Amino acid sequence: MNDKKFTILIVDDVPENIQLAANILDKEGYNIAFAPDGKSALSQVKNISSDLILLDIMMPEIDGFMVCEQLKKDPETANIPIIFLTAMTEKESVVRGFELGGVDYIVKPFNDKELAARVKTHLALKYANEKLRESEQHLIALNATKDKFFSIIAHDLRSPFNALISGTQLLKDCYNSIEKDTLDILIDELHKSSTNVFALLENLLEWARSQSGNISYTPTVFNPDALIKTVIPVFTKNIKDKNIRIINTVDPNLSVYADMDMISTVLRNLCGNAVKFTPDGGSICFRSSEQGKFAEITVSDTGIGIPAEDIDKLFRIDTKYSQIGTAGERGTGLGLILCKEFIGKNGGTIRIESKYGKGSRFIFTLPKDKI
Ligand SMILES: Nc1ncnc2c1ncn2[C@@H]1O[C@H](COP(=O)(O)OP(=O)(O)OP(=O)(O)O)[C@@H](O)[C@H]1O
Ligand SMILES: [Mg+2]
Repeated sequence: MNDKKFTILIVDDVPENIQLAANILDKEGYNIAFAPDGKSALSQVKNISSDLILLDIMMPEIDGFMVCEQLKKDPETANIPIIFLTAMTEKESVVRGFELGGVDYIVKPFNDKELAARVKTHLALKYANEKLRESEQHLIALNATKDKFFSIIAHDLRSPFNALISGTQLLKDCYNSIEKDTLDILIDELHKSSTNVFALLENLLEWARSQSGNISYTPTVFNPDALIKTVIPVFTKNIKDKNIRIINTVDPNLSVYADMDMISTVLRNLCGNAVKFTPDGGSICFRSSEQGKFAEITVSDTGIGIPAEDIDKLFRIDTKYSQIGTAGERGTGLGLILCKEFIGKNGGTIRIESKYGKGSRFIFTLPKDKI
């Protein structure tokens, strides 16, 4: 299995039985915890995070069956294997034990080797089950990723290509008969369309690379204020067109330990979104603060905001969420997913606070020092 030391909880109202089982299991190298009755078993089980429980059936007040029932009802304890301890005369109740979710039973007085062997088998089974569940979760996530990938390729990549193909076809067939003005519009549309499809492709590929662990993480110490000052000019044209005011109060002496390329991508996406979703005359603000070992950077805007019910759809590859900007700008819906991925890779977190119709605030953290 692994090197972890397993903890076995022994529940019995007869101290000699606990002692006997504890002696046997102690020799096998397990951690032992014990409870003299059902009530204390239920209160202990979570604190000690037991890997397996040996549970006596006949106990005063809360008997073994009731304890088992309670444990199986609680998702936190439902997967702990329970082996019932029964007296020879209680053999019929073994069936009830299985019905309630017990995995096995041992008849008292125990045989040393039998007890050790059954405990070992069920721990191995539990361990194998946990591994299976983990790999199932991983597969579900991978499958969602793959589905999203295909849906983006099927839908988002197809439509701009249709526009490109029909546009270039028109140029090819009727170039000489199209008026100059119409020609200019058509070429402009073709250029926009191919720029969009390229942006989508780049985001998709970058995201796919980060999913497959192929993006290198090279952290250095740098100053986020300086990085922000290189990102803002990328949007100069849109900022001017929309008369947006930019306020930057990020501490110029603040430094963070992170991969600068990744954080540059994050800032570009957040700043791009803020510009895209802020109407004429609005403002965008960059702020910083320090929270213990972390620096917190906030990008806020006075834009259109995000409805509360839609916030959970962001950052997730399995739900597509993308709106058109205040000047009709289109997006791929991958920007924030990349941001989350990159901030996570740098040991930080990202969250959103938004008021629909009023504005949004994207807050991310980064370690100030090597973690
Ligand atoms: N600052 C913001 N204000 C309002 N809505 C926002 C803001 N940032 C993101 N959103 C909402 O979240 C959606 C997803 O954002 P995201 O950056 O992931 O994709 P996008 O901007 O649509 O496309 P792109 O991949 O080109 O960035 C946006 O389409 C928009 O609806
Ligand atoms: Mg975006």
